[in-house]
Amino acid sequence: ALISMRQLLDHAAEHGYGIPAFNVNNLEQMRAIMEAADKTNSPVIVQASAGARKYAGSNFLRHMILAAIAEFPHIPVCMHQDHGTSPAICQRSIAMGFSSVMMDGSLMADGKTPSDYDYNVDVTRRTVEMAHACGVSVEGELGCLGSLETGQAGEEDGVGATGTLSHDQMLTDPDEAADFVAKTGVDALAIACGTSHGAYKFTRPPTGDILAIDRIKAIHDRIPGTHLVMHGSSSVPQEWLAIINEFGGEIPETYGVPVEQIVEGIKHGVRKVNIDTDLRLASTGAVRRFLAENPSEFDPRKFLKVTMDAMSDICVARYEAFGTAGHA
Ligand code: G3H
Ligand code: 13P
Ligand code: NA
Ligand code: ZN
Repeated sequence: ALISMRQLLDHAAEHGYGIPAFNVNNLEQMRAIMEAADKTNSPVIVQASAGARKYAGSNFLRHMILAAIAEFPHIPVCMHQDHGTSPAICQRSIAMGFSSVMMDGSLMADGKTPSDYDYNVDVTRRTVEMAHACGVSVEGELGCLGSLETGQAGEEDGVGATGTLSHDQMLTDPDEAADFVAKTGVDALAIACGTSHGAYKFTRPPTGDILAIDRIKAIHDRIPGTHLVMHGSSSVPQEWLAIINEFGGEIPETYGVPVEQIVEGIKHGVRKVNIDTDLRLASTGAVRRFLAENPSEFDPRKFLKVTMDAMSDICVARYEAFGTAGHA
């Protein structure tokens, strides 16, 4: 059944678990996620980015998600719009039937330039008014995503601020978060706590607290009724990087957010965990290996099937690690 993000995350908060929100662009990702959710009895958040809407088209994405709901009627599914850059974009998604939208007012409408606080409050508050009138949930964002190790916003494909950020910019301020929630009424808040988008988060194997766990705790204490969202939560599986590079790829050494750090965040109020890069890496590794080992194959279903299985395995692992399993 289609369900709002508020309903899903309220249940997650009550029972102390987190929900991975996977980006979807095509049938293979959609099926991989649903099969994993079915196997582990997990609720689902699927999200469509601006890039996904450009690639597949909003109608294809919407009908693919509706098809998933029809095929797996026992699994609650939230259809979420990722990183909306204006109230007008969110309005279009609401009109199309999305049950949740993100108004990312931390950036200007170009999706790149950091905005000022009043602008963020204004666009987010207007989106909440519109969305709540339709029973749709809203995620806002406060702060600039950036790796605390490299100081880089780390987005290579156009989501988020670019360039070097100060330590302060990369950590959401708890008092400001409380004021933001009071003024906007968002259901969920994406916070900056040391993660960044894309595959290049950390240059060395992360040890200890690579995220600002104390900051997550402090924000959660100030806004206990608002669900925290962690963007840039891919773990960048080293085994898939090795497979990609063994079969002709060239991806330099790089590290993501360890699953144990995300689990630590979940203990302190993180409920929605955004993952895109991990499924991209698994899918690329699987297709490279398959084609290298089966050079005479040309039926795309053969290599797309192995990408589906590779992505699904990652989804199963995240549903289990985040405690989502068993809560559908
Ligand atoms: O928010 C970032 C996601 O990884 C989406 O990226 O716009 O390339 O689909 P995309
Ligand atoms: P990753 O690039 O770490 O997968 O993050 C995805 C994301 O935050 C989508 O909004
Ligand atoms: Na931001
Ligand atoms: Zn994001």
